[in-house]
Amino acid sequence: MSLVIPKHEPLLLSSARQQSMHICRGNVYIQAEKALYLLEAKGRFAIKDKAIQEPGPGEVLVQIHAAGLNPADQKVHERDILVKEYPAILGLDAAGIVKKLGADVSNLAVGDRVVFQGWYDDRRGALQQYAVADAGLVAKLPSTLTFDQAATFPVPLATAAFGLYSSKKAGGIELTAPWEDGGRGKYAGQPILVIGGSSAVGQFAIQLAKLSGFGPIIAVASVRNTAHLKSIGATHVVDRAAPLSALGSAIAAATRAPLLVAYDAVATPETQNAAYAALAPGGKLVHVQFAKVDEAVRTPDKTLALPYGNVLAEQNGDDGHVLYKALEVLLASGELKPNNVEVLPNGLEGATEGLKKLEQGLVSAAKLVVHPQDTA
Ligand SMILES: NC(=O)c1ccc[n+]([C@@H]2O[C@H](COP(=O)([O-])OP(=O)(O)OC[C@H]3O[C@@H](n4cnc5c(N)ncnc54)[C@H](OP(=O)(O)O)[C@@H]3O)[C@@H](O)[C@H]2O)c1
Repeated sequence: MSLVIPKHEPLLLSSARQQSMHICRGNVYIQAEKALYLLEAKGRFAIKDKAIQEPGPGEVLVQIHAAGLNPADQKVHERDILVKEYPAILGLDAAGIVKKLGADVSNLAVGDRVVFQGWYDDRRGALQQYAVADAGLVAKLPSTLTFDQAATFPVPLATAAFGLYSSKKAGGIELTAPWEDGGRGKYAGQPILVIGGSSAVGQFAIQLAKLSGFGPIIAVASVRNTAHLKSIGATHVVDRAAPLSALGSAIAAATRAPLLVAYDAVATPETQNAAYAALAPGGKLVHVQFAKVDEAVRTPDKTLALPYGNVLAEQNGDDGHVLYKALEVLLASGELKPNNVEVLPNGLEGATEGLKKLEQGLVSAAKLVVHPQDTA
């Protein structure tokens, strides 16, 4: 059965009618899609049919083939944060195929394979089969990159990049990005510490540090991840099981240069205090959670920075657009590698198991990914 609906009429349809229904807008027929809804705050998840959104001016409609999970999705569920309205669609990291262009979109074409960051609402949530994205915040994929791999980039990469290169106001430490004039290799000879090197964010911090020229790049992670971290740019891997009190001596064994930059992708009170103590005077610490460095040890010469890895957030200004332009180039050149992927079965339904894994800390050096198109 098909139904013709005027272009801008909201599509709120009873589930009985949706089951075998196609929606027609203009001359394009698209089936109603499936989405994974969080039904109420801290509540249950359920797959529901919904109408596919219409891309507005400057937007594109993307058929999502891979959606990556973030710890933020689990925290949203557990703590009722960031969502304005329930039922809500979660999911931030998405990759798929452009199916429709809104007005004034000239940088993309129908059929392009792309990656983008979603948001926690009906139009942009990644845990559905179609979502809209801003055309300027989308990167085209080279044929060598799978959708699963592409879905590992958005939030972790933005969090790493904004922490290192954004303005202080935006939560960064204002290094020159490798995609800016003079930024490539600029920090040669300077050490960097990345705590949580095997986390999704940490892996991009390591890779960006490498493009920026830092060396040695000292990562703290489980030793089983050493080979992988060295393959993406870490020069030294410190066992996270060792006492953090020994971190200073591990760094001293790797370099005689003062440590001026640390990226803490774990950001517990213990890791933040250890990273802060390891910094030389004038050093800068990026921490992905609120600052927990003991007040008593803080000194005015050391900088703390909390980035917000959300390209849609006002505080990040134009940084998302700059990042996505750079990302397209770095993906094409193969200089930025994806995280390893663990694909969860059962389409969107699989995300609920993934969120439990994240809650239990069972994710190591991998991104959990679901395939929305495989939803029953
Ligand atoms: N501020 C923001 O906007 C923003 C954005 C994104 C993420 N975050 C936060 O950043 C953190 C990382 O996110 P993610 O997506 O990268 O997480 P993730 O990939 O799911 O993190 C899992 C990894 O964390 C590592 N890890 C956990 N505890 C560790 C410790 N004590 N020392 C060293 N490594 C440790 C594990 O390493 P091993 O397996 O090697 O042991 C594992 O590989 C989360 O807290 C998240 O909420 C913040």
